Amino acid sequence: MQPLQGKFALITGAGRGIGAETAAKLTAAGARVLVNDLDEDAAQETAQQLDGAVAIAGDLTVPSVADDLIDAAIEQFGGLDIVVNNAGYIWHSAIHNMTDEQWDAMIDIHASAQFRVLRAYGRWLRDNANRDSHVRKVVNISSTMGIYGGATQLAYSAGKAAVVGITKSLAKEWGRFNVGVNAVAFGAIDTRLTSPYEKEPNISIVKGQPRKVGLSHEQIAGAKQASPFNRMGTTEDAANAIYLMCLPESDWITGQVLMATGGAQS
Ligand SMILES: NC(=O)c1ccc[n+]([C@@H]2O[C@H](COP(=O)([O-])OP(=O)(O)OC[C@H]3O[C@@H](n4cnc5c(N)ncnc54)[C@H](O)[C@@H]3O)[C@@H](O)[C@H]2O)c1
Repeated sequence: MQPLQGKFALITGAGRGIGAETAAKLTAAGARVLVNDLDEDAAQETAQQLDGAVAIAGDLTVPSVADDLIDAAIEQFGGLDIVVNNAGYIWHSAIHNMTDEQWDAMIDIHASAQFRVLRAYGRWLRDNANRDSHVRKVVNISSTMGIYGGATQLAYSAGKAAVVGITKSLAKEWGRFNVGVNAVAFGAIDTRLTSPYEKEPNISIVKGQPRKVGLSHEQIAGAKQASPFNRMGTTEDAANAIYLMCLPESDWITGQVLMATGGAQS
């Protein structure tokens, strides 16, 4: 039997990058995946390539979308075993240039969106989790920035640090529901988020507005050097780390932050 046979998973921000790769990894392990992304075409494209996957587009910074997503997952699958809170993006600048809009956007997508998805899931768990004995999994995506901080990344770092607080608190709250709640904090992973900033177009849609994401060549070189492997991680490296936290073999691990950084410690 495949390790995740019969499991149902929701992955946010799974239209591309780490989320899309994780959707493929969990599907290959036997799970059925609900693919969320604010980018409808990307969500559909991911889901179409995967057996049994379903796409539900939706911008998680719109407060009602989290409830809609959890409702759709339950309606589609009849239950939900794995939630991967992955949607996110970077929008950086030095603090003296940082607008309220930037600050709010980073807290909104990384902290508030995860909170709302988990609150909606918790309402279902409260009524359903104790009817069976299996361990469910939440994997919240954080970053080295949320652990060590990063210059020009103050708001992103604050959002990703909030993910750690959410994870540790919920692990304590949801033991009674038999849910393992962990975070995976990545170092630099080679995606749209970390591709050369100078090279247009690197576009992330923020509340309907296009924004440039990416890193400077200098930042990319620094990110590679930070790892003893002297490279960025691949999306496969990232999906593998998330997968570990979804396996039954990690059932006794909860409230932890797995540092999937290729050894980078800053
Ligand atoms: N790439 C890295 O180096 C790195 C490092 C640390 C943490 N992370 C985190 O990993 C996660 C995935 O990043 P990625 O590198 O795969 O980026 P990506 O841009 O390739 O993919 C992120 C996806 O999230 C979606 N998304 C963004 N805002 C959303 C919203 N409001 N609602 C729904 N979907 C939304 C985007 O449309 C996109 O498809 C993010 O949380 C990011 O902060 C990435």
